[in-house]
This record gives sequence, C-alpha cells and structure tokens, in this order.
Amino acid sequence: MNVKSSASASGGPLPHVGDASQAGEPTLPGLGNHHSTEAVPGALPVGRNSPQRVPYGLFAEQFSATAFTAPRNDNHRSWLYRMRPTANHAPFAPYGGNSRLQASPFPGGQLSPNRLRWNPLDIPDERLDFVDGLVTYAGNGDVAGGFGCGIHLYAATLSMVDRAFFSADGEFLIVPQTGRLRLVTEMGVLTVAPLQIALIPRGIRFRVELVDGPARGYVCENYGALFRLPDLGPIGANGLANPRDFEAPVAAFEDVDRPVELVQKFMGSLWSTQLSHSPFDVVAWHGNAAPYRYDLRRFNTINTVSYDHPDPSIFTVLTSPSDTVGTANMDFVIFPPRWMVAEDSFRPPWFHRNIMSEYMGLIHGEYDAKAGGFAPGGASLHNIMAGHGPDVESHDRAVMAELAPNRIDGTMAFMFESRYPFAVTQWAINTPLLQADYDKCWQGFRKAQLPQQGEELK
Ligand SMILES: [Fe+2]
Repeated sequence: MNVKSSASASGGPLPHVGDASQAGEPTLPGLGNHHSTEAVPGALPVGRNSPQRVPYGLFAEQFSATAFTAPRNDNHRSWLYRMRPTANHAPFAPYGGNSRLQASPFPGGQLSPNRLRWNPLDIPDERLDFVDGLVTYAGNGDVAGGFGCGIHLYAATLSMVDRAFFSADGEFLIVPQTGRLRLVTEMGVLTVAPLQIALIPRGIRFRVELVDGPARGYVCENYGALFRLPDLGPIGANGLANPRDFEAPVAAFEDVDRPVELVQKFMGSLWSTQLSHSPFDVVAWHGNAAPYRYDLRRFNTINTVSYDHPDPSIFTVLTSPSDTVGTANMDFVIFPPRWMVAEDSFRPPWFHRNIMSEYMGLIHGEYDAKAGGFAPGGASLHNIMAGHGPDVESHDRAVMAELAPNRIDGTMAFMFESRYPFAVTQWAINTPLLQADYDKCWQGFRKAQLPQQGEELK
C-alpha cells in the first residue's frame, strides 16, 4: 500500500513515504505552527479555507481541537482537504472485539491511598493489534466533564490492517517502551521509537503499524486542556523542550476503496462502523491542530549547579493546565540522562508527600530512586499525600556516595502528574502484575540517632 506525500506546494517530485521499514519520513518542524502541506501539487486552496470548488473536487472540512471561541493563543484548528467527507459513514454499533479500554470514572474502579507498583505488561501470545492490545490501568477526573485523563498500557503483536481508530475522549500521548510504531494518520505518517513520544489529537483517525514486531508502551489519554509547553519563568526564552524539535507530519494519503473498520472510543466505550474506503484520504491540510512527535533526547535538561535537587517540575516536557494556575490537569515529566554536580546534597529525588498524584513509568535503564523492582515497562502509582521516595538501598547508597560530578546515563523514566487522584481499574487491581510487596522497599531504614533519647513532647 503506497502512501503519497509532499512537504510543499513546490511541484517537485513527491517524496515517497514507503513501507513500515522506513522511518525517515519528512516532517514539519515546530510545535503549534500554522503548517501548510499538500501531497498533490495544487490541492491546497490558496487565500481561503472553503472555496466554492476545492481543487480536484476535494472536500473541505474543518477539524476543531478547541472551541471556536477559544482565545487566539489557545485556539487549535486545521482545514483538511479530503477525497470524501468524514460524515460519509454508516451508524456506529458497539464494538464486537474484546476491549479493555475504559474512561474515568470507572465502573468498579478503586481509589486507593496505597502505593502501587506493577511489573511490565507481558507481550501476549495471541495476535493483538494496538486497539485490542490497550488496557486501562488508571484514570482520574471525568471524561464527560472534560478534565482528568486515562492511563493505558499497550502490548501489541500485530499491525492494524484495514482498521482505523480514534478517541473522542481525549488526545493520545503515546510513549513507546519497546518497538517502533508507524502511525498512519489522517494528516500524514509519523514513525515513533522508544525515547520518542507521539501525540494524536482527539478525534484524529490513525492506524498503528508495528515496525519491529511486538511493541509495548504507555498512553496518557488527556481529557482536559491540550498539552502545551510549560511556561519557563526565570529560565528564560529557551530550555526544556524547545518548540522547534516537535515534528508534524506532511500530508499523505492513500487512495483505497475497500472495506475498512473504523473504531472509536466514546465516553469509555468502543464503537465501530464499516467504511467503504480508507479514512486516510486527506490530500492536503493547513492549520495548527495536528499530530506531532518529539524526541526526548532533545530535551534541554536543567538542574542545580550548586545544591539540592530542584522540584521535578524542572523536567516537565508538556503540560495540560487546569482552571487553577500552576496546578496541572496533567504534566508529562521525564527523568533523562543528566550530570549530577550538587554539593553537600542528597542527589536522588528526595522523600516526598504531594498534593499532586504521580503515576510513573520507565522506558529503559534504572530510575535513580529505586534500586530494583521498577522495571522498564513497569509502572508505579503514588496518589495524593502518599509518602514515597528512594528505597532503602538507593538511600543508603546516596548518603555514602562521594559527591564528585557524575553522569546518570542510560535511563529514561517519566511521570504523569495530576492534581486529581488516580483510580485504578478492576483489571489493574486484579492482575498478577501488581506487586504485593511494594511497601517493603521502604522498610528497614535505620532510625535516626539523637544525642538525647526518650524526651517527650511537653
Ligand atoms: Fe513525588
């Protein structure tokens, strides 16, 4: 199956995106830019969004990722020029497959004050594509109310074939842990590898092809305000994730007339319909609502050069704000390789209780606050005010360490951090992947030795 694409209206030769073994597709740089791209020269109308007659008889369709009246700086929309309108479909019916996807609040979900940790999701023996390989672990807020998120893991063994998916519930922030994904979307193709992330806007149809065989990873499905870059305050105009390093796809389409199943996630349930054609028939588009990809290795990591470990918000890649300034609906935070130079400081993340709730995952390597038990592909959850921090071994090692400059390397952990506590699904509570002994990693700390003991409060 060919996908045709072109980065510009220059009329030059059409770059050929090729098949799943090819990861070097052309992209458009810059987060939130107003891009213009066409896969066939002359397909993109000039000077207006909806001309009386669109070139080649294409259909003009607006895609609104924010309300029409959202303030200009927050307003995201694109115009798509496609071979058939999206409206051209039969009614959706309840999905016939086995889905383990849900949306918050979960039926039978559990809000637990306990610290929870899971082993990695197994790669299944059965043939599961991305849609059927997704399983919801946790979530918060209310999907219908437009706040909070769902957290899913996926383990897939099969590329999606003649199937497409979209979520009406939220934007999909995909964090691959093993295996590259080739994301064929309405707006073009992005291949994303571990240590990269991809974001699929709410409502955008996409298909996931597995480039390297079985694949596993994490998804944050954000019901709230769109992910954006955090403000930088005194850091200045540059730093953390830089906007130019985000890549949107160039327009690409497939001219396919055969049945394609379209599956949508709507208020936690899956629905499907049969199309007579591929939904990936957008020949040109322009606007600032688009899928994008970002390489976490491009993150400009900022940390202390004097003492103490800054709050981990210094590692925020993307944030979904809530109605309360500085209190996120969802932050996506990474713990990347970095130099540690703090003087007279406990260098790992410190002991902590937080009004925010923290879900963590590990892409590869070892997290510097946990000596074991937190494996790549695994996850942990520390809800509001749960005491957490380094385990005994990591703590004891850190207090004895010689404080020479040293580099933490070969690791990439991340956190989904939210103002709303996470409920976990029945699946996540009942799975044998849940570690029964997680609390033990904080047992066995020596007691502090005071010069005078036995004093009572007076
Ligand atoms: Fe924390």
